Amino acid sequence: MKRTMSREWILGLALTTAMVPIVSADLTTTISSTTNWGTWEGFGVSLAWWAKAFGTRTDLADIFFSTKSTTYNGQSIPGLGLTIARYNAGACSWNTVNGSAMVVSPDIIASRQMDSYWIDWSSTSPSSSSWSWSVDANQRNMLSLAKARGANIFELFSNSPPWWMCLNHNPSGSNDGSSNNLQSWNYDQHAVYLATIAEYAAQNWGISFQSVEAFNEPSSDWWNGETGTQEGCHFNSSTQATVIGYLRSELNSRGLSSTLVSASDENTYDLAVSTWNSLGSTATSNVGRINVHGYQYTGGRRDTLYSLASGAGKRLWNSEYGESDATGEELVTNLMLDFRWLHPTAWVYWQAIDGSGWGLIDGDNDNVSLGAVSQKYFALSQFTRHIRPGMRILDGGSNYTVAAYDSTAHKLVIVAANWGTAQYLNFDLSKFSTPGVSGALVPRWITQTGSGDQYVSYNDTYISGTKFWSYFPTGAVQSFEVSNVVL
Ligand SMILES: *[C@@H]1O[C@H](CO)[C@@H](O)[C@H](O)[C@H]1NC(C)=O
Ligand SMILES: *[C@@H]1O[C@H](CO)[C@@H](O)[C@H](O)[C@H]1NC(C)=O
Ligand SMILES: *[C@@H]1O[C@H](CO)[C@@H](O)[C@H](O)[C@H]1NC(C)=O
Ligand SMILES: *[C@@H]1O[C@H](CO)[C@@H](O)[C@H](O)[C@H]1NC(C)=O
Ligand SMILES: *[C@@H]1O[C@H](CO)[C@@H](O)[C@H](O)[C@H]1NC(C)=O
Repeated sequence: MKRTMSREWILGLALTTAMVPIVSADLTTTISSTTNWGTWEGFGVSLAWWAKAFGTRTDLADIFFSTKSTTYNGQSIPGLGLTIARYNAGACSWNTVNGSAMVVSPDIIASRQMDSYWIDWSSTSPSSSSWSWSVDANQRNMLSLAKARGANIFELFSNSPPWWMCLNHNPSGSNDGSSNNLQSWNYDQHAVYLATIAEYAAQNWGISFQSVEAFNEPSSDWWNGETGTQEGCHFNSSTQATVIGYLRSELNSRGLSSTLVSASDENTYDLAVSTWNSLGSTATSNVGRINVHGYQYTGGRRDTLYSLASGAGKRLWNSEYGESDATGEELVTNLMLDFRWLHPTAWVYWQAIDGSGWGLIDGDNDNVSLGAVSQKYFALSQFTRHIRPGMRILDGGSNYTVAAYDSTAHKLVIVAANWGTAQYLNFDLSKFSTPGVSGALVPRWITQTGSGDQYVSYNDTYISGTKFWSYFPTGAVQSFEVSNVVL
């Protein structure tokens, strides 16, 4: 549901609320001091496909990977400070192999064809002519720009094995979308491909991948080479299990035994549950981290997937999230549900730049043209600029409140949203042994999903006893930083 609100109405509201005596709140949430939903690893973004188009743009690198302000289209944009980048190992090459060329879907979108480093099967040696390390320069450039700005967690991921390993030589998928498309004699070769890139990146790019993911939404049945618009490949769970074993071995044999195998990047929470339950104990023991995509939005059993992950001693990432709601409302809603029910230790947006509402900045990766910064960008910044790596994730007490604690700085961060009528939200800190200092300033930042404020900061909110409160217009998301808090 999209909301529209006129600027006049917002101004009127601001004038009215200034005259309202602050007496009590309409909704109260109590922040827990005892939960530990994990140590935050960071927020991130996948580099394919936008970095193939815009990988040389240092201003965009500043906007996404630093927290400084950057002038863009005449506007000062506060950086998101993302610290995770997912690098896509491509599946396309335009050479012939044994006289065969890549088969291309008639519907392919050119900006989504990512270059493969391995171009034929004749040698596994990265120094042989079977490997072309000069391709994909733009995505690689954005990877190093990200690192130079402080990104420190990198994942290597694949949407499809290189085309010449595929049964129909089409890196968009099988001809029916639901059949495995990796040739059975290439199960190990797909692992060799990814492990070789990881080793090469460590030796030549200064990039140490924390994890390698061999699949992308592998149980889904839409990876159809005859209609596909992007790279993709179906793997059933037994094939996934086989490839996971090979990937673990190939990483180990290259001295990368501490590089995690992540899996399986299923499209939904519920698919991730069923895949995990069918991989088998050998494969799950080789998975170092569970990755799931957030395309079930408000649906699905986040809690079940978390139980499985924590029971197995695995960390959990929402490794891909996106939608076309440029207002930011869906993003904030679903991200908050992730914090409260999925408990990921990282959260990765899909396309920083894209059209039709998907991008954080509107743009066209085919025409390499850029548009406006989306309201969704500012909504996301309410989280990424305040919930920082190393913080402990607490229970914010509701589906509309997220809390994180910096034990070194003794700082409590709260991000909250109001989907109801304009009202006060009241934050109860009485569970903390030191709930800040009564009378102390609580700086706040506000974005109004839809339209209105874009990460505007205010110094007008103070602790009163063990509480503080703030006025939220409908659709507002606010971040608060409370100092001198002790669990
Ligand atoms: C390539 O051709 C050679 C010689 O005909 C054959 O032995 C080999 O199996 C072929 N490889 C592939 C991947 O088609
Ligand atoms: C999974 O795919 C493999 C290879 O195509 C096939 O041999 C196997 O029977 C499939 N397993 C299931 C459970 O469908
Ligand atoms: C790219 O630009 C061309 C020419 O201006 C236009 O026809 C096309 O629709 C654009 N592509 C997209 C995806 O907007
Ligand atoms: C909070 O979210 C969970 C998970 O989506 C849902 O089951 C629950 O009903 C929600 N609670 C409220 C009060 O809306
Ligand atoms: C709030 O106070 C801090 C600390 O004094 C200051 O750095 C910041 O600029 C102030 N922000 C606003 C919006 O006044």
